[in-house]
Amino acid sequence: MKVAVVGTGYVGLVTGTLLAEIGHHVTCIDLDEAKINQLQSGVPTIYEPGLEELLVTNIEQNKLNFTTNHAEAFQNADIILLAVGTPKGTNGEADLSYIQAAAKTIATTVKEDVVVMIKSTVPPGTNDQVERLIRQQLVHNVTVDVVSNPEFLREGHAVEDAFHGDRIVIGSEKTDAGELMTKLYEKLDMPILHTNRRSAEMIKYAANAFLAVKISYINEIASLCDAIGADVSDVADGMGMDHRIGRAFLNAGIGYGGSCFPKDTDAIAHLAKEQNTPLTIVESAIDTNRKQRQKFINKMDRYFGSQLTNKKIAILGLAFKPNTDDLREAPSLEIIDALETKGAIVSVYDPIITHPKSATSIIECVTEADAIVLVTEWQDFITADWPTITKTVAEKLIFDGRNALPASRLQQEGWTYIGIGKERK
Ligand code: UGA
Repeated sequence: MKVAVVGTGYVGLVTGTLLAEIGHHVTCIDLDEAKINQLQSGVPTIYEPGLEELLVTNIEQNKLNFTTNHAEAFQNADIILLAVGTPKGTNGEADLSYIQAAAKTIATTVKEDVVVMIKSTVPPGTNDQVERLIRQQLVHNVTVDVVSNPEFLREGHAVEDAFHGDRIVIGSEKTDAGELMTKLYEKLDMPILHTNRRSAEMIKYAANAFLAVKISYINEIASLCDAIGADVSDVADGMGMDHRIGRAFLNAGIGYGGSCFPKDTDAIAHLAKEQNTPLTIVESAIDTNRKQRQKFINKMDRYFGSQLTNKKIAILGLAFKPNTDDLREAPSLEIIDALETKGAIVSVYDPIITHPKSATSIIECVTEADAIVLVTEWQDFITADWPTITKTVAEKLIFDGRNALPASRLQQEGWTYIGIGKERK
């Protein structure tokens, strides 16, 4: 099939590459010419394990191309896939201006019947609205159907998720459009759920919000564990052994960040309020998440008796999670700001991202540090040369914001280890 992909962010780029790899002819469009030239030369614009190899192979085989020209990409396309951004609007709602602009371009450009597939995360009802918008503004006498196909890719695992995800959700109002989607994905061994468009749109929000609730729930349990002297990792293990609960997304830490959970929880809570059916559990999860970073900062402040001035603090990790170069809504930025406001001298190291305070290595970052603060659980930190780190720091003190380091081993080696939900009584 011939597929045109509008938007070359995480979703567009990874999905476009996947579709080329499973045999389709894909053209990805973006307005940014420099970005398009870079991608056409096989160099990814994002850090995503496994992507570069696939990008290069499919460009070489001429199954994957990049252009700034919509008309060229839409010509003879069976499917136009929308993967443009839906950022947070001023009141927490999803800003649909990129979607609307893309709809207008489609309406004025397509000359053959086509199915428009919306992968961007959009509030329920948007697919209907986009179909109406396109049909109202069509320049040529063609049929355009809109299908919802939400994405469930995790940054850092996006390639793996694209090929081996848990499910494909297709929301359509017309059987042929739904069948075309099934055909598009027939080479993948993944269960397909067919629903109507609004349910498909809702599945995406309900799933992200549920995962966010799970994280905020375990973070509140962690605070209680701190108060009573239980260990939240053991509690999560015990809870997770119940298959009705599951262990995934029960890692307590400094709260969720990234480009999805914060934006999507706000958007669905906003929509629910508008509909007079507030999602109070999601609202609480958002609130808990906001407080979680502050609680972590307070822990450090308390330890130093509010005397953080001139303390040298080594921050390990900037990205909102490992294996990505994404800094959107990353807790690291707020933590660095707060520590600097309290007079601390901050040094930072992330395996991929640089910052004005970046050191060139873990060892340089921790040299003479009064405390290490683990913000992102990159494997590089867990398997770092801890015997050398031990000799390099001024104080053997760790605040582990992800409960990712081997607490007992570090304690045996004389470190003071402070995690989340692990205070001993
Ligand atoms: C999330 C969803 O997991 C994907 O299914 C979805 O497609 C994507 O949003 C999206 O809407 O595009 P992502 O934001 O890439 O993916 O990353 P996650 O692995 O879900 O992590 C999100 C945040 O939650 C990170 O800050 C992570 O550190 C935090 N987290 C995750 C925890 O604090 N504890 C956990 O147990 C799990």
